[in-house]
Amino acid sequence: MRKSILIAAACGLFLPVLSATAQDKINFEKQIYPFIKSGCAKCHRPEHENPERPGRKIKPKGGSVLTNKEGIMASEGEDGGKFIVPGKPAESLMLQVTLLPLDDENHYPPEGDAPQWTKAEKELFAKWIEQGADFGAWTTDPDPLTVPEWDGKEKE
Ligand code: HEC
Repeated sequence: MRKSILIAAACGLFLPVLSATAQDKINFEKQIYPFIKSGCAKCHRPEHENPERPGRKIKPKGGSVLTNKEGIMASEGEDGGKFIVPGKPAESLMLQVTLLPLDDENHYPPEGDAPQWTKAEKELFAKWIEQGADFGAWTTDPDPLTVPEWDGKEKE
């Protein structure tokens, strides 16, 4: 066993694996947060004043704030499942709800309310969880209440 590891190392067989891992380390702020913001922040941002009914507050849906690290990590579903279980995409509700069929009542975001995550985005999110759900230096969206206008068209 040890011998074959040495031979592999001598042949440089491990190098491509190592460099691929370093390269593939996902940057949460740049690669992940933008599609959380566009797809989820509309309903999962911090409590704020209702512009149409002054004096009334709009609360984050299900009490889950997804515009900062603390909120994402503290969020739990109705049945107590965690939104993110580092290393375990299959147990992370925040990914699983996006993978349910569009017409499932537990699918989020609800169809037509915000852009769906693309297949590539779901895969990247799964990989980020698999890599340990590392937020890097990111702790919060500096402007969590501003959600970009959506033209109703799904991304490819
Ligand atoms: C249009 C509003 C809306 C959008 C957009 C939205 N959600 Fe939600 N979300 C809700 C509501 C409403 C609930 C249910 C709250 C409750 O049952 O108390 C919920 C609950 C959840 C739950 C908990 C499900 C459970 O098992 O209890 C998860 C996970 C979730 N959302 C993830 C997301 C993710 C990830 C996105 C973005 C990709 C997103 N949501 C976008 C409205 C939204």
